[in-house]
Amino acid sequence: MKNPRVNGERIWQSLMEMAKNGATAKGGVCRLALSDEDKAARDLFVQWCKEAGCEVIVDRMGNLFGHRRGEDESLPPVVMGSHIDSQPTGGKFDGIFGVMAGLEVIRALNDAGVKTKAPLEVAAWTDEEGSRFPPCMVSSGVFAGEFTLEYGLSRKDLNGITLGEALDRIGYAGSVPCGARKLGTYFEAHIEQGPILDEEGIQIGVVQGVQAMRWYELHLQGQDAHSGTTPMDRRHDALGSAAEIVLELEGFAKKFGPEARATVGLITFERPSRNVVVGNLMMTIDLRHEKDEVLAEMDAELQKIVSAAAERRGVKPMLDPIWICPAVRFNQECIDLVRQSAESEGYSHIDIVSGAGHDASYIAQVAPTSMIFIPCDKGLSHNELENTSPESVRMGAQVLLDAALARAGRVL
Ligand code: HGY
Ligand code: MN
Ligand code: MN
Repeated sequence: MKNPRVNGERIWQSLMEMAKNGATAKGGVCRLALSDEDKAARDLFVQWCKEAGCEVIVDRMGNLFGHRRGEDESLPPVVMGSHIDSQPTGGKFDGIFGVMAGLEVIRALNDAGVKTKAPLEVAAWTDEEGSRFPPCMVSSGVFAGEFTLEYGLSRKDLNGITLGEALDRIGYAGSVPCGARKLGTYFEAHIEQGPILDEEGIQIGVVQGVQAMRWYELHLQGQDAHSGTTPMDRRHDALGSAAEIVLELEGFAKKFGPEARATVGLITFERPSRNVVVGNLMMTIDLRHEKDEVLAEMDAELQKIVSAAAERRGVKPMLDPIWICPAVRFNQECIDLVRQSAESEGYSHIDIVSGAGHDASYIAQVAPTSMIFIPCDKGLSHNELENTSPESVRMGAQVLLDAALARAGRVL
C-alpha cells in the first residue's frame, strides 16, 4: 500500500507565509531567536499545529512540539523538526523547511485518515543558529543534556539580554522540563546549504552525520592611543593583530585540506572612534572539520597564530573556546530508512555529510536520528538569496513522511 502523498503546493504556501515573518527587502528573512519576528512565526506555527489537531507542548527552553496522538500513547514519539529562528541575513528555507515539512507530514496523514501506532511530533528548537544567543543548537543541546538549563537560559546577546529574559518577554518560557521526555526517533529535513546536490543534480541527500565544530571568542587587549601623535612603532593596536589573524586564517584552513573551514564573522569594539588606535576588541572564530583529531590540530595551530600576531604588537590575547561540538555519526537504521524511502519514491540520492550544524547533532545523543537534505540553488545559504524549488521541497517532505511512517508504524 502506497503511503499518502504530501501536498507540495500547501507546504510551499506555508513556507511563503512563514517567510513574511522577518521578511527583508532582498527576499530573505531576519528572524533572530526570540525576537518579535520569531514570536510571530512561533504563534503561526502553534496555530497551524492546533488546526492540524495537535496538542502543543512548550518546554523550559521554549522548544515547541506539536503532538499528534498515536494508537499507543505509551510509545515515545517519532519527531520531525528543525528550527524557526534565522540568521540576520537569513533565507526563507534554512530551518523552517524542516518544521514545515514535519507539519505537512501530519497534515497529509490527517487528509488520508492514516493513524500511527506511536505518536508523531513536529518540533521547533529554540535558537538553533546561535547568532543572537551563542552557541549554536543551545536548546536542543539542553534537551540532550549537553548543557544545563541554567547555562541555556543564561546565554546573552550583544545587548546583555539573556535567553531566559527573551523567552519571558515573548511568552514562550514553557513549564515542561527540557529533555525530560524520551523520543523514539528524530528526523530533520533541511536544505543542504552547500553545492553538492545542486551541482550534481541529485534530489535527496542521505545524511551520514555532521562535521566537528569549534567556536571561540578572542579578546585582544592593546592600548587606546591618539591616531595623530602615536608613532607606528609605539602602538599596541588590537585591530592590527586582529587583521593579521583574519588573513592568516585563510591560508591556515587550506593547510588542513579542502574540508577545513575557518571564519571570523563578528568583530566588536567597545568604544570605536576614527582617531583612536583600537585598544581592545572581541572577535569570533568558527573552525570546522569532518575529523575531531584534525580539528584538535587546527586548534593548536590557531593558538600559535594568535600568540604571534598579538606579541608582534605587544597586545594581550585571551582566546576563549566557548563551544566544542564533536563530529556526529547518525543512526544507521535511520540513515538506511531515508535511503530506502528515497529509492521507493524513485528519487536520485547520494550519501552526504553535513557541513552545517543542526539540532540533529545533539538529538542524536538521545534518540536514533538522521537527516534528509534537499538541494538549494548554488548551495547558497545564510544569505537572503537562499532558494530551492517547490519540487525539491515536496520530495524532501515525501521522504520524511515515508521514513517517519515506517518508524511510527501505520495502523490504519
Ligand atoms: O552554524 C551552523 O552550522 C548552523 O547553520 N547553525
Ligand atoms: Mn539550519
Ligand atoms: Mn543556519
